[in-house]
Amino acid sequence: NYYAILMAGGVGSRFWPVSTQDFPKQFHDMLGTGETLIQKTFSRLANMIPKENIFILTNARYNDLVLQQLPDISQRQVVLEPAMRNTAPCILYASLKIQKENPNAVMIVAPSDHWIEDEQAFTQNVQQAFDFCTQNNTLMTLGIQPTFPNTGYGYIEYDKNNSEAIKPVAQFREKPDYETAKQFIAQGNFLWNAGIFMWSVHSVIEAFKGNQPELFQLFEKGIATYNTSDEANFIAENYAKAENISVDYAIMEASQNVFVLPANFDWNDLGTWGSLYDKIDKDDQNNAVVNAQVLIQDASGNMIRTPKNKVVVLDGINDYIIVDKKEVLLIFPKAKEQDIKKILQGVKDKFGDN
Ligand code: GDD
Ligand code: MG
Repeated sequence: NYYAILMAGGVGSRFWPVSTQDFPKQFHDMLGTGETLIQKTFSRLANMIPKENIFILTNARYNDLVLQQLPDISQRQVVLEPAMRNTAPCILYASLKIQKENPNAVMIVAPSDHWIEDEQAFTQNVQQAFDFCTQNNTLMTLGIQPTFPNTGYGYIEYDKNNSEAIKPVAQFREKPDYETAKQFIAQGNFLWNAGIFMWSVHSVIEAFKGNQPELFQLFEKGIATYNTSDEANFIAENYAKAENISVDYAIMEASQNVFVLPANFDWNDLGTWGSLYDKIDKDDQNNAVVNAQVLIQDASGNMIRTPKNKVVVLDGINDYIIVDKKEVLLIFPKAKEQDIKKILQGVKDKFGDN
Protein backbone atom coordinates (compact mmCIF):
# COMPACT_ATOMS: atom_id res chain seq x y z
CA ASN A 1 0.00 0.00 0.00
CA TYR A 2 2.98 2.32 -0.05
CA TYR A 3 3.11 5.14 -2.57
CA ALA A 4 5.22 8.22 -3.19
CA ILE A 5 4.82 11.48 -4.99
CA LEU A 6 7.91 13.27 -6.02
CA MET A 7 7.60 16.99 -6.64
CA ALA A 8 9.81 18.13 -9.46
CA GLY A 9 8.18 21.26 -10.80
CA GLY A 10 10.36 23.97 -9.28
CA VAL A 11 12.83 26.10 -11.18
CA GLY A 12 15.68 26.54 -8.66
CA SER A 13 16.50 30.03 -9.83
CA ARG A 14 19.13 30.74 -7.14
CA PHE A 15 21.25 28.02 -8.77
CA TRP A 16 21.49 29.95 -12.00
CA PRO A 17 23.32 29.64 -14.37
CA VAL A 18 23.40 25.83 -13.93
CA SER A 19 19.71 25.64 -13.07
CA THR A 20 17.51 27.22 -15.73
CA GLN A 21 13.86 27.14 -16.63
CA ASP A 22 14.49 24.59 -19.34
CA PHE A 23 16.77 22.48 -17.20
CA PRO A 24 16.20 23.05 -13.48
CA LYS A 25 18.45 21.89 -10.66
CA GLN A 26 16.64 18.64 -9.82
CA PHE A 27 17.75 17.32 -13.23
CA HIS A 28 21.41 18.24 -12.65
CA ASP A 29 24.18 16.38 -10.91
CA MET A 30 24.61 19.24 -8.47
CA LEU A 31 26.90 17.37 -6.09
CA GLY A 32 29.21 16.00 -8.75
CA THR A 33 28.50 12.37 -7.81
CA GLY A 34 27.38 11.11 -11.22
CA GLU A 35 23.69 11.13 -10.28
CA THR A 36 21.16 13.93 -10.61
CA LEU A 37 19.17 15.09 -7.58
CA ILE A 38 15.96 13.51 -8.85
CA GLN A 39 17.76 10.22 -9.52
CA LYS A 40 19.12 10.23 -5.98
CA THR A 41 15.68 10.99 -4.55
CA PHE A 42 14.06 8.29 -6.63
CA SER A 43 16.47 5.58 -5.53
CA ARG A 44 16.12 6.67 -1.90
CA LEU A 45 12.36 6.13 -2.15
CA ALA A 46 12.61 2.96 -4.20
CA ASN A 47 14.32 1.33 -1.20
CA MET A 48 10.93 0.99 0.43
CA ILE A 49 8.28 1.76 -2.17
CA PRO A 50 7.49 -0.30 -5.27
CA LYS A 51 8.79 1.60 -8.31
CA GLU A 52 5.45 1.46 -10.05
CA ASN A 53 3.90 3.29 -7.06
CA ILE A 54 6.15 6.33 -7.37
CA PHE A 55 4.52 9.26 -9.16
CA ILE A 56 6.39 12.26 -10.51
CA LEU A 57 4.69 15.64 -10.58
CA THR A 58 6.25 18.14 -12.84
CA ASN A 59 5.74 20.76 -15.47
CA ALA A 60 4.83 19.43 -18.92
CA ARG A 61 8.07 20.83 -20.33
CA TYR A 62 10.13 18.42 -18.17
CA ASN A 63 8.44 15.23 -19.32
CA ASP A 64 11.37 14.13 -21.49
CA LEU A 65 13.90 14.88 -18.77
CA VAL A 66 11.94 12.75 -16.29
CA LEU A 67 11.61 9.79 -18.64
CA GLN A 68 15.27 9.97 -19.66
CA GLN A 69 16.60 10.22 -16.13
CA LEU A 70 14.24 7.72 -14.53
CA PRO A 71 14.03 4.78 -16.93
CA ASP A 72 11.99 2.76 -14.40
CA ILE A 73 9.15 5.25 -14.60
CA SER A 74 6.38 4.88 -17.16
CA GLN A 75 4.25 7.68 -18.57
CA ARG A 76 1.33 6.57 -16.37
CA GLN A 77 3.32 7.74 -13.34
CA VAL A 78 4.10 11.22 -14.59
CA VAL A 79 1.58 13.97 -13.95
CA LEU A 80 2.25 16.86 -16.30
CA GLU A 81 1.19 20.29 -15.12
CA PRO A 82 0.45 22.91 -17.77
CA ALA A 83 1.24 25.73 -15.31
CA MET A 84 3.03 26.18 -11.99
CA ARG A 85 0.50 26.38 -9.18
CA ASN A 86 2.78 25.58 -6.26
CA THR A 87 2.54 22.39 -4.22
CA ALA A 88 -1.07 22.17 -2.99
CA PRO A 89 -2.75 21.57 -6.37
CA CYS A 90 -0.22 19.00 -7.54
CA ILE A 91 -0.38 17.09 -4.25
CA LEU A 92 -4.18 16.98 -4.28
CA TYR A 93 -4.29 15.92 -7.91
CA ALA A 94 -1.83 13.08 -7.38
CA SER A 95 -3.49 11.99 -4.14
CA LEU A 96 -6.85 11.65 -5.88
CA LYS A 97 -5.22 9.59 -8.62
CA ILE A 98 -3.57 7.30 -6.09
CA GLN A 99 -6.76 6.97 -4.10
CA LYS A 100 -8.58 5.74 -7.18
CA GLU A 101 -5.89 3.13 -7.71
CA ASN A 102 -5.66 2.13 -4.06
CA PRO A 103 -8.00 3.62 -1.43
CA ASN A 104 -5.80 2.21 1.37
CA ALA A 105 -2.63 3.85 0.12
CA VAL A 106 -0.21 5.44 2.58
CA MET A 107 2.16 7.84 0.94
CA ILE A 108 5.14 10.11 1.21
CA VAL A 109 5.38 13.44 -0.55
CA ALA A 110 8.98 14.39 -1.23
CA PRO A 111 10.74 17.24 -2.97
CA SER A 112 13.07 16.01 -5.70
CA ASP A 113 15.93 18.33 -4.92
CA HIS A 114 17.00 17.88 -1.30
CA TRP A 115 20.25 16.57 0.11
CA ILE A 116 19.98 13.57 2.44
CA GLU A 117 23.00 11.35 2.80
CA ASP A 118 22.05 8.79 5.42
CA GLU A 119 19.60 6.64 3.44
CA GLN A 120 19.26 4.12 6.21
CA ALA A 121 18.14 6.66 8.79
CA PHE A 122 15.82 8.20 6.23
CA THR A 123 14.22 4.83 5.47
CA GLN A 124 13.84 4.09 9.16
CA ASN A 125 12.11 7.41 9.82
CA VAL A 126 9.75 7.02 6.90
CA GLN A 127 8.90 3.45 7.86
CA GLN A 128 8.07 4.62 11.38
CA ALA A 129 5.88 7.39 9.99
CA PHE A 130 4.15 5.00 7.58
CA ASP A 131 3.26 2.67 10.45
CA PHE A 132 1.80 5.61 12.35
CA CYS A 133 -0.18 6.88 9.34
CA THR A 134 -1.55 3.42 8.67
CA GLN A 135 -3.03 3.42 12.19
CA ASN A 136 -4.02 7.06 12.57
CA ASN A 137 -5.83 9.79 10.71
CA THR A 138 -2.92 12.25 10.69
CA LEU A 139 -0.81 14.54 8.57
CA MET A 140 2.83 13.85 9.33
CA THR A 141 5.94 15.82 8.62
CA LEU A 142 9.64 15.31 9.27
CA GLY A 143 11.15 17.94 11.56
CA ILE A 144 14.69 19.29 11.47
CA GLN A 145 16.52 20.84 14.42
CA PRO A 146 16.77 24.53 13.44
CA THR A 147 20.11 26.32 13.57
CA PHE A 148 19.21 29.94 12.71
CA PRO A 149 16.08 32.04 12.09
CA ASN A 150 15.61 31.07 8.46
CA THR A 151 12.47 32.78 7.17
CA GLY A 152 12.16 30.51 4.14
CA TYR A 153 11.01 27.49 6.12
CA GLY A 154 7.94 26.30 7.95
CA TYR A 155 8.18 26.05 11.77
CA ILE A 156 6.65 23.31 13.86
CA GLU A 157 5.86 23.75 17.53
CA TYR A 158 5.64 20.70 19.77
CA ASP A 159 5.13 20.11 23.46
CA LYS A 160 8.47 20.28 25.29
CA ASN A 161 7.41 17.63 27.78
CA ASN A 162 6.42 15.09 25.17
CA SER A 163 9.11 12.42 24.97
CA GLU A 164 7.44 10.24 22.32
CA ALA A 165 9.25 9.82 19.01
CA ILE A 166 6.21 11.05 17.12
CA LYS A 167 4.79 14.23 18.60
CA PRO A 168 1.52 16.07 18.15
CA VAL A 169 2.06 19.51 16.61
CA ALA A 170 0.78 22.48 18.58
CA GLN A 171 1.30 24.93 15.74
CA PHE A 172 2.53 24.83 12.14
CA ARG A 173 3.70 28.24 10.92
CA GLU A 174 4.83 28.63 7.35
CA LYS A 175 7.58 31.20 6.64
CA PRO A 176 7.31 33.49 9.70
CA ASP A 177 9.01 36.88 9.65
CA TYR A 178 12.51 37.19 11.07
CA GLU A 179 11.52 38.37 14.57
CA THR A 180 9.00 35.56 14.95
CA ALA A 181 11.49 32.99 13.69
CA LYS A 182 14.01 34.27 16.23
CA GLN A 183 11.49 33.90 19.05
CA PHE A 184 10.59 30.39 17.91
CA ILE A 185 14.20 29.32 17.98
CA ALA A 186 14.78 30.88 21.39
CA GLN A 187 11.83 28.90 22.77
CA GLY A 188 13.59 25.64 21.92
CA ASN A 189 10.52 23.55 21.09
CA PHE A 190 10.30 24.36 17.39
CA LEU A 191 11.55 22.36 14.43
CA TRP A 192 11.91 23.26 10.77
CA ASN A 193 9.55 21.55 8.38
CA ALA A 194 11.66 19.47 6.00
CA GLY A 195 8.88 19.65 3.41
CA ILE A 196 8.61 15.85 3.42
CA PHE A 197 5.11 14.72 4.32
CA MET A 198 3.54 11.36 5.08
CA TRP A 199 -0.14 10.46 5.34
CA SER A 200 -2.82 8.10 4.13
CA VAL A 201 -4.59 9.21 0.95
CA HIS A 202 -7.72 9.19 3.04
CA SER A 203 -6.31 11.72 5.55
CA VAL A 204 -4.82 14.11 3.04
CA ILE A 205 -7.92 14.18 0.85
CA GLU A 206 -10.08 14.80 3.89
CA ALA A 207 -7.81 17.72 4.82
CA PHE A 208 -8.18 19.22 1.34
CA LYS A 209 -11.95 18.70 1.36
CA GLY A 210 -12.22 20.54 4.67
CA ASN A 211 -9.74 23.34 4.09
CA GLN A 212 -9.67 23.85 0.32
CA PRO A 213 -13.17 22.95 -0.84
CA GLU A 214 -12.91 24.89 -4.09
CA LEU A 215 -9.72 23.17 -5.12
CA PHE A 216 -11.20 19.84 -4.15
CA GLN A 217 -14.32 20.40 -6.21
CA LEU A 218 -12.29 21.56 -9.19
CA PHE A 219 -10.15 18.42 -9.28
CA GLU A 220 -12.81 15.95 -8.16
CA LYS A 221 -14.50 16.31 -11.54
CA GLY A 222 -11.43 14.82 -13.18
CA ILE A 223 -11.46 11.50 -11.36
CA ALA A 224 -13.47 9.76 -14.07
CA THR A 225 -10.86 10.67 -16.69
CA TYR A 226 -7.81 9.09 -15.01
CA ASN A 227 -5.72 6.98 -17.34
CA THR A 228 -8.06 7.64 -20.26
CA SER A 229 -7.47 9.83 -23.27
CA ASP A 230 -9.66 12.50 -21.62
CA GLU A 231 -7.29 13.08 -18.73
CA ALA A 232 -4.97 15.36 -20.65
CA ASN A 233 -7.97 17.44 -21.75
CA PHE A 234 -9.22 17.69 -18.21
CA ILE A 235 -5.85 18.89 -17.02
CA ALA A 236 -5.48 21.33 -19.89
CA GLU A 237 -8.88 22.85 -19.17
CA ASN A 238 -8.79 22.90 -15.39
CA TYR A 239 -5.35 22.72 -13.85
CA ALA A 240 -4.47 26.37 -14.34
CA LYS A 241 -7.74 27.39 -12.67
CA ALA A 242 -6.37 26.09 -9.37
CA GLU A 243 -5.28 28.59 -6.77
CA ASN A 244 -1.52 29.11 -6.55
CA ILE A 245 -0.89 27.95 -2.99
CA SER A 246 1.56 25.72 -1.17
CA VAL A 247 0.52 22.67 0.79
CA ASP A 248 1.89 24.31 3.93
CA TYR A 249 -0.59 27.18 3.79
CA ALA A 250 -3.37 25.13 2.21
CA ILE A 251 -3.68 22.32 4.75
CA MET A 252 -0.79 22.11 7.23
CA GLU A 253 -1.36 25.42 9.00
CA ALA A 254 -5.09 24.82 9.26
CA SER A 255 -5.21 21.20 10.38
CA GLN A 256 -5.49 19.95 13.95
CA ASN A 257 -4.21 16.43 13.34
CA VAL A 258 -0.60 17.24 12.43
CA PHE A 259 2.23 15.15 13.91
CA VAL A 260 5.97 15.54 13.62
CA LEU A 261 8.78 13.02 13.64
CA PRO A 262 12.14 14.66 14.35
CA ALA A 263 14.45 13.45 11.60
CA ASN A 264 17.38 11.21 12.48
CA PHE A 265 19.31 12.25 9.41
CA ASP A 266 21.23 15.29 8.29
CA TRP A 267 19.18 17.33 5.84
CA ASN A 268 19.69 20.27 3.54
CA ASP A 269 17.24 21.63 1.02
CA LEU A 270 19.99 22.75 -1.34
CA GLY A 271 18.35 26.08 -1.97
CA THR A 272 21.46 28.07 -2.85
CA TRP A 273 25.07 27.72 -3.95
CA GLY A 274 26.09 28.33 -0.34
CA SER A 275 24.04 25.38 0.93
CA LEU A 276 25.63 23.19 -1.73
CA TYR A 277 29.06 24.48 -0.65
CA ASP A 278 28.25 23.39 2.92
CA LYS A 279 27.45 19.85 1.82
CA ILE A 280 30.36 18.89 -0.39
CA ASP A 281 33.95 18.05 0.42
CA LYS A 282 36.38 20.95 0.54
CA ASP A 283 40.06 21.15 -0.34
CA ASP A 284 42.64 22.20 2.25
CA GLN A 285 41.82 25.88 1.68
CA ASN A 286 38.11 25.22 2.08
CA ASN A 287 37.19 25.51 -1.58
CA ALA A 288 34.40 23.27 -2.86
CA VAL A 289 35.04 22.16 -6.41
CA VAL A 290 32.62 20.38 -8.74
CA ASN A 291 33.88 19.08 -12.11
CA ALA A 292 36.82 21.48 -12.43
CA GLN A 293 40.55 20.76 -12.35
CA VAL A 294 42.00 23.46 -10.17
CA LEU A 295 45.25 25.16 -9.39
CA ILE A 296 44.51 27.28 -6.37
CA GLN A 297 47.14 29.43 -4.73
CA ASP A 298 45.90 31.88 -2.19
CA ALA A 299 42.14 31.54 -2.32
CA SER A 300 39.66 30.07 0.11
CA GLY A 301 35.98 29.53 0.80
CA ASN A 302 35.00 29.45 -2.87
CA MET A 303 32.28 27.38 -4.50
CA ILE A 304 33.56 26.43 -7.94
CA ARG A 305 31.66 24.59 -10.64
CA THR A 306 32.52 24.22 -14.32
CA PRO A 307 31.93 21.81 -17.18
CA LYS A 308 33.82 18.52 -16.68
CA ASN A 309 37.61 18.88 -16.35
CA LYS A 310 37.79 22.57 -17.14
CA VAL A 311 41.02 24.01 -15.77
CA VAL A 312 40.58 26.80 -13.25
CA VAL A 313 43.40 28.86 -11.78
CA LEU A 314 42.64 31.01 -8.75
CA ASP A 315 44.61 33.44 -6.67
CA GLY A 316 43.46 36.10 -4.24
CA ILE A 317 39.76 35.37 -4.40
CA ASN A 318 37.86 34.38 -1.27
CA ASP A 319 34.29 33.35 -0.53
CA TYR A 320 33.01 33.59 -4.09
CA ILE A 321 30.66 31.52 -6.17
CA ILE A 322 32.39 30.82 -9.47
CA VAL A 323 30.22 29.00 -11.96
CA ASP A 324 31.12 28.45 -15.58
CA LYS A 325 28.47 27.05 -17.86
CA LYS A 326 29.20 27.18 -21.57
CA GLU A 327 27.77 30.58 -22.47
CA VAL A 328 27.54 32.03 -18.97
CA LEU A 329 30.16 32.81 -16.34
CA LEU A 330 29.01 33.83 -12.87
CA ILE A 331 31.35 35.33 -10.30
CA PHE A 332 29.37 36.37 -7.28
CA PRO A 333 30.09 36.89 -3.57
CA LYS A 334 28.77 34.00 -1.51
CA ALA A 335 27.43 36.44 1.07
CA LYS A 336 25.07 37.90 -1.54
CA GLU A 337 23.85 34.62 -2.99
CA GLN A 338 20.18 35.39 -2.29
CA ASP A 339 20.43 38.19 -4.87
CA ILE A 340 21.06 35.79 -7.75
CA LYS A 341 17.33 35.24 -8.11
CA LYS A 342 16.71 38.99 -8.40
CA ILE A 343 19.56 39.61 -10.80
CA LEU A 344 18.35 36.86 -13.06
CA GLN A 345 15.41 38.98 -14.19
CA GLY A 346 17.77 41.71 -15.29
CA VAL A 347 19.91 39.16 -17.11
CA LYS A 348 16.88 37.86 -18.98
CA ASP A 349 15.76 41.35 -19.94
CA LYS A 350 19.18 42.16 -21.30
CA PHE A 351 20.31 38.89 -22.88
CA GLY A 352 17.24 36.67 -23.16
CA ASP A 353 16.86 33.26 -21.52
CA ASN A 354 20.02 31.38 -20.68
N1 GDD B 1 5.24 19.60 -9.42
C1 GDD B 1 5.43 20.79 -8.86
N2 GDD B 1 4.64 21.84 -9.25
N3 GDD B 1 6.39 20.92 -7.95
C2 GDD B 1 6.55 22.14 -7.39
C3 GDD B 1 5.79 23.26 -7.73
C4 GDD B 1 4.76 23.09 -8.74
O1 GDD B 1 4.04 24.02 -9.13
N4 GDD B 1 6.22 24.31 -6.99
C5 GDD B 1 7.21 23.85 -6.23
N5 GDD B 1 7.44 22.52 -6.47
C6 GDD B 1 8.43 21.64 -5.85
C7 GDD B 1 9.82 22.26 -5.80
O2 GDD B 1 10.58 21.81 -6.90
C8 GDD B 1 10.37 21.70 -4.50
O3 GDD B 1 10.96 20.44 -4.71
C9 GDD B 1 9.14 21.49 -3.62
O4 GDD B 1 8.03 21.45 -4.52
C10 GDD B 1 8.92 22.56 -2.55
O5 GDD B 1 8.75 23.81 -3.16
P1 GDD B 1 9.60 25.08 -2.75
O6 GDD B 1 9.16 26.22 -3.60
O7 GDD B 1 11.07 24.74 -2.74
O8 GDD B 1 9.08 25.31 -1.27
P2 GDD B 1 9.78 26.18 -0.16
O9 GDD B 1 11.24 25.86 -0.09
O10 GDD B 1 9.42 27.60 -0.37
O11 GDD B 1 9.08 25.68 1.21
C11 GDD B 1 8.81 24.31 1.48
O12 GDD B 1 9.98 23.59 1.80
C12 GDD B 1 10.68 24.01 3.00
C13 GDD B 1 11.87 23.09 3.22
O13 GDD B 1 12.71 23.08 2.13
C14 GDD B 1 7.81 24.31 2.66
O14 GDD B 1 7.30 23.01 2.80
C15 GDD B 1 8.49 24.77 3.97
O15 GDD B 1 7.58 24.63 5.05
C16 GDD B 1 9.73 23.92 4.21
O16 GDD B 1 10.38 24.37 5.42
MG1 MG C 1 12.61 24.88 -1.30
